[in-house]
Amino acid sequence: MKQNVTRRNFIATAGAAALAASTTSALAAEAAKGKTLTIIGVSCSPRRGMTTSRAVQAALDAAKAVDPRIETELIDLGGLNIAPWSPTPPADDMAPLLPKFQDPALGGLIIGSPSYFRSLSGLAKCFLERLAPLREPKMVLAEKPFGVVAVGAFRNGGQELTIEQIQTILLCFGMIPVGGHGPAFQGATLLSANDSIAQDDLGLKTAAQLGKHVGEVALKMAG
Ligand SMILES: Cc1cc2nc3c(=O)[nH]c(=O)nc-3n(C[C@H](O)[C@H](O)[C@H](O)COP(=O)(O)O)c2cc1C
Repeated sequence: MKQNVTRRNFIATAGAAALAASTTSALAAEAAKGKTLTIIGVSCSPRRGMTTSRAVQAALDAAKAVDPRIETELIDLGGLNIAPWSPTPPADDMAPLLPKFQDPALGGLIIGSPSYFRSLSGLAKCFLERLAPLREPKMVLAEKPFGVVAVGAFRNGGQELTIEQIQTILLCFGMIPVGGHGPAFQGATLLSANDSIAQDDLGLKTAAQLGKHVGEVALKMAG
């Protein structure tokens, strides 16, 4: 069959194809956008930008590397004023943070705390208590995965106990604790030497393994 391609119908056909292609890619982009998940990392050291913050960022980087649909955000509580729960919500820095945890795009959490006397920091405890509005009237965080990162200045400085305490708290929110991928058996456990975790290869590996696993579980839970 002879093809009769005039300049006019060639342009019309090419234009329609280009329009279809751009519409398809726009729809694909929209669909991909709809599936984007955010993993939020929270550093609960009063010292902003220090070892806990860096360890949480390492875990977030690994979570983000799992899939292009995963976005990450680090919230560093260092320098913020966050009081414990009280019957009248304190007027402090917590109120602007809460909506981030209510966002339906939230895929999971990575909570980091320094080990203070083999326990979680006071700031971590205050922050977690102030998430109470996310339990009632609706369990907003239920079925979302979380991992915990703990940094200590001693090799056996209570990092695993700190992780366990934070896991105990977040179980009350119906969240799913993630660890289990060696060497991050309980979570990420890091050793700070002179305010640096850069030399702690094993600890950084636990942070990476934890972040990766949180990212993987977040994707599975999102369906
Ligand atoms: C009040 C206090 C208590 C601490 N207790 C412990 C501890 O029990 N075990 C430990 O390994 N390190 C302990 N440390 C050291 C911190 O965990 C360590 O320096 C950590 O890296 C601090 O985190 P940051 O650099 O993010 O502030 C303590 C530090 C402070 C200030």
